[in-house]
Amino acid sequence: MQPLKKPARKDLKGLKVLVTAGPTREHIDPVRFLSNPSTGQMGYALAAAAVQQGARVTLISGPVSLEKPQRVKLIPVVSAADMYRESVRAAKPADIIIMTAAVADYRPARSLQKKLKKEKRGKLKLHLVPTRDILQTLGKRKRRDQFLVGFAAETNALLKNARRKLEQKNLDLIIANRVKAGNAFGSMTNQVILIYSDGAVKSLPKMSKVRLATKLIDAIIQNRAM
Ligand code: CTP
Repeated sequence: MQPLKKPARKDLKGLKVLVTAGPTREHIDPVRFLSNPSTGQMGYALAAAAVQQGARVTLISGPVSLEKPQRVKLIPVVSAADMYRESVRAAKPADIIIMTAAVADYRPARSLQKKLKKEKRGKLKLHLVPTRDILQTLGKRKRRDQFLVGFAAETNALLKNARRKLEQKNLDLIIANRVKAGNAFGSMTNQVILIYSDGAVKSLPKMSKVRLATKLIDAIIQNRAM
């Protein structure tokens, strides 16, 4: 997945960008897991757009069926715990961090080594425990020169929920994403609202995720410079 056109300038030359993408899988047993419909398209498009602007890009990705963008360092992960570990490590040298991953908020308390057999049970209760919030951790550890971007996937109270996440996770920018048919998860297109830490709000029209990625990278470049 490559950006639409080559930008003439390399505004991110010399900078390191970390992007997370895709879903995580929280295994119940070797053949079953809890997950979500994220396809990783937004994150992969952002990684490719950052490369086009001259950045050195690390992409930490849950299981997706997308090709690795050219000149990107790809770190494949499976679970939220894997993504946490790799993200915390890769965030240290990063100048810009963009978290598009749809990280599971809960995982089974126990992941069985052997396949769960149905004849051994009647009703099945799954005991879930919370995973760690990667973005919140990175927000707490954020350096002054780091620019931290999150996504907020919401079905309702979009702006209110997104603003709360911006604040709670100590972000510089949050991309508010309404989850509905034809938008966000699994869709080739996306319609988002940008909310900055200074309160500025910018609504973008519906567009392809590839085009949106270029616009978001431009918005990050402009805002970092201010
Ligand atoms: N995120 C993360 N680690 C988690 C959960 C979320 O890094 N364990 C990041 C996502 O990558 C995204 C942002 O936090 O950039 C918001 O994710 P979202 O799923 O919209 O919200 P949650 O914080 O999980 O809150 P809720 O599920 O209550 O909406």
